[in-house]
Amino acid sequence: MSERLGILGAGRLGTAVARLAVDAGREVFIADVRTGPMVELVVATIAAGARLVGVDEMLASSEMVLLAIPYSRLADLDLAAFERVVLIDATNAWLEVDGADPPASPLKGHKGLRVVRTLNHLAYEDLTAYAEPAGAPFRTAMALVSDDVAARAAVAALVDDLGFDPVELDGRSAWMLESNGPFFGRRLAREEMTSLVSASRRADRLTW
Ligand SMILES: NC(=O)c1ccc[n+]([C@@H]2O[C@H](COP(=O)([O-])OP(=O)(O)OC[C@H]3O[C@@H](n4cnc5c(N)ncnc54)[C@H](OP(=O)(O)O)[C@@H]3O)[C@@H](O)[C@H]2O)c1
Repeated sequence: MSERLGILGAGRLGTAVARLAVDAGREVFIADVRTGPMVELVVATIAAGARLVGVDEMLASSEMVLLAIPYSRLADLDLAAFERVVLIDATNAWLEVDGADPPASPLKGHKGLRVVRTLNHLAYEDLTAYAEPAGAPFRTAMALVSDDVAARAAVAALVDDLGFDPVELDGRSAWMLESNGPFFGRRLAREEMTSLVSASRRADRLTW
């Protein structure tokens, strides 16, 4: 089944992913705190085919929802409303936007959420530039981290549809996607990414 994709945040990342998902034949519902002609124009131009709706309609219409809002705005969300969907967390704490000492993600403390962390380690313009059909040589890899195997598999299918080789990882590798980790901002093929994961696991064993 091709789950319908909801996107919260019609900014740079949200509209770039919406474009790729529409191109892949997914139904896409996108919502933003901004409403009115400017955001309508942005969505119609960058992500034609995605439906700009209110947050409630986006949530009710989607099986999975990409969080594409500033990290510090996660604190504004009523997370209970997101418990019925698989959440795709692409948010990064960014110095210029979120300050020097951001709090821990509220997603971590909220039981009942099904969270897959992915689509955060490449810039939005790289997502657009690097997306390729399955089977392309040296296709760009995209890491996904979650301990919820079913949710991770569903999001991996989306990532593949968007144009990337999914590399599914459990929570032990979460640090690798962060801004000081080895994947951030780097175009890696699946084999390169999995070699980095294996090397880090070997290093863990040696440290023990
Ligand atoms: N840009 C990238 O290349 C990139 C790549 C990977 C990950 N990320 C991460 O993705 C997230 C979005 O980045 P971005 O560059 O796309 O940001 P952006 O261009 O500023 O877009 C974010 C959008 O979300 C809106 N928004 C804020 N709070 C909201 C809420 N509670 N509900 C609905 N919409 C809300 C913002 O409106 P206002 O401006 O009015 O607040 C803005 O329109 C960030 O966490 C970032 O770290 C970005």
